[in-house]
Amino acid sequence: MKSAPVIQNVRGVKIYPPNHKRVQKLLANESAPEIHGDKVWYSSYFIMDYLEANPPEPKTTILDIGCGWGALSIFCVKKYQARVTGVDADKHVFPLLQLHAKLNNVNVGSKVSRYEDLTPEFLAKQKLIVGGDICFWDELVDPLHALIKNALAAGVERIVIADPGRPPFLRLARRCRRLHHGKLRQVKVTAPRKNDGYLLIIENFD
Ligand SMILES: C[S@@+](CC[C@H](N)C(=O)[O-])C[C@H]1O[C@@H](n2cnc3c(N)ncnc32)[C@H](O)[C@@H]1O
Repeated sequence: MKSAPVIQNVRGVKIYPPNHKRVQKLLANESAPEIHGDKVWYSSYFIMDYLEANPPEPKTTILDIGCGWGALSIFCVKKYQARVTGVDADKHVFPLLQLHAKLNNVNVGSKVSRYEDLTPEFLAKQKLIVGGDICFWDELVDPLHALIKNALAAGVERIVIADPGRPPFLRLARRCRRLHHGKLRQVKVTAPRKNDGYLLIIENFD
């Protein structure tokens, strides 16, 4: 007999596997995510490890763009008491984000928006922007670059984007190295599984 899927604990964040009965029950009543927000993607773990080594100020404001199920948002609330807003173009990810927020006993703000529609006024309220596996199509490169430019102009202090190394992400990274002093670092995790990839780190020097 197959054993029931168990809740994982990754870096202090409790995460339902996609085939867990709570996820399946929710998806029986709500529409499923449509733009790959159908699980927690491991690029988020690269950013968690980066933040452990380079922690933000406690209680700071953080935007998790392309947040999906919100594991990274929840990590930032739990670890740094941050005020986090998860942003995603797909409204169908938010019931799953809230399911996880409840499981982890935290509050995470949510906003349905495409990257390019985030206003300078809204960006100006954020100190840090993070995003795991969010640049996976060619057509996402320009909107993400526009967001990065607007965020830097609005005074956001740091932007950290992680990726397995997909070509659109590497194009964005090359552009940010050239235009915004972006740094590209190769990274790996061993838990919950072995994976390697990249971090793009952009600091605001203005
Ligand atoms: C591969 S998933 C990654 C989810 C999450 N960051 C993680 O690591 O588990 C990509 C997420 O980006 C969102 N997304 C895709 N295009 C977007 C856009 N133009 N603006 C905002 N979010 C977008 C998707 O809905 C999806 O939730």
